[in-house]
Amino acid sequence: MNGSTDIRRTQVAIIGGGPAGLLLGQLLERGGVDTVIIERRSREYVLSRIRAGVLEAGTVGLLREAGAGERMDREGFEHEGTYLAVANRGFRIDFKRLTGGSVTVYGQTELTRDLYEARDASGRPVLHEVEQVRIHDADSASPWIGFNYQGRQQRLDCDYIAGCDGFHGVSRGSIPAELLREFERVYPFGWLGILSPTPPVSDELIYASHERGFALCSMRNPRLSRYYLQVPLQDSVEQWSDRAFWDELRRRIPHAAAESLVTGESIEKSIAPLRSYVAEPMRWGRLFLCGDAAHIVPPTGAKGLNLAASDVYYLSRALLQHYRENDDHGIETYSETALARVWKAERFSWYMTRLLHRFPEQSEFDLRMQEAELNYLESSAAAQTALAENYIGLPF
Ligand code: FAD
Ligand code: PHB
Repeated sequence: MNGSTDIRRTQVAIIGGGPAGLLLGQLLERGGVDTVIIERRSREYVLSRIRAGVLEAGTVGLLREAGAGERMDREGFEHEGTYLAVANRGFRIDFKRLTGGSVTVYGQTELTRDLYEARDASGRPVLHEVEQVRIHDADSASPWIGFNYQGRQQRLDCDYIAGCDGFHGVSRGSIPAELLREFERVYPFGWLGILSPTPPVSDELIYASHERGFALCSMRNPRLSRYYLQVPLQDSVEQWSDRAFWDELRRRIPHAAAESLVTGESIEKSIAPLRSYVAEPMRWGRLFLCGDAAHIVPPTGAKGLNLAASDVYYLSRALLQHYRENDDHGIETYSETALARVWKAERFSWYMTRLLHRFPEQSEFDLRMQEAELNYLESSAAAQTALAENYIGLPF
């Protein structure tokens, strides 16, 4: 059914075929609500993006509910803790003991693939490579989307529009500027990430604070590792040979890990800038913002994808309540409800970023505060519990 051109009307039009749009589409379809998803890129392009890797239990639950959890249950890895490292020495935060919870390591690429397969099975369309997407009459009872698809101008009428089109999409900008409030912090560094077909250096993630800058050791599976280094914003990927990357990573992580690190050729290398951003409100009339379209977190707390999932949770419940019970309470409170959780995840992501990175303008006092915070974390079960509770994910 992919590629069908005669779609004129649907109940919920979803802009963006990333994790938020696909997950929302599945939850609504399963609840008997018709959806059409339009996506700017090709499916291959969407599936080639290497992004997040850590899923909260709530996200895992939603994927199962969407009928897309089978491979994740088979191939994902449960992590009951993580390591923090300071100046080449690590200590462990035990999520399970402190909170009873855990996270699942399963790549966003895999999750997106599973959601596309579930969508295929539902028979409902994703229109790829759409252009010139425009939202119309979102503040009226009959919103519609105009776009170009396979060289033809299309009009899609709908009851509601879900703007799941990421940070650079069109949805957020369709809300009148005088109604939109934006909150932003841009960080003075980026993350250089590599994907490497080598065994991970550790059975759990290592978040390392070091005077040379932050480093993170993550993974996708026992044969695929993901590593990151804090780098200046001016750096380019071309400046970083694989050799230079591995040498720098070894300097920043615990000595024992550095000694056992297996290196190899990188199969992906990219630099991502770090940003905190929230747009309010997340609803305008019949348009809802969901995921990165409404907010961005720096990746240090592993929250980006999980926040997209919690927005989808609230929005899918709200829309199902509307169609099944003719009750609009969820729709009317969506923005407020979603934002309350968004701001908590923004806080945690900002806290982790501030805790673990070196900032160019940092004073001696700031450095001592960072050291004291890390010392406190190492010695206090209360502090560790607060970190663990946020990392595994606050309840929906
Ligand atoms: P997206 O994944 O951005 O999906 C939006 C979709 O909408 C895209 O497919 C896009 O092509 C499409 N689109 C855009 N404009 C239009 C339009 N006009 N019409 C139709 N479709 C459109 N999070 C972590 O937790 N850990 C990480 O390591 C991590 N790394 C990241 C690296 C990068 C480079 C980026 C950009 C993000 C990263 N994130 C990470 C964040 C995480 O990947 C996102 O939070 C997550 O992808 C959000 O899902 P989404 O569906 O809201 O947005
Ligand atoms: C990843 O594996 O890509 C990853 C894991 C944890 C983070 C960020 C990224 O905090």
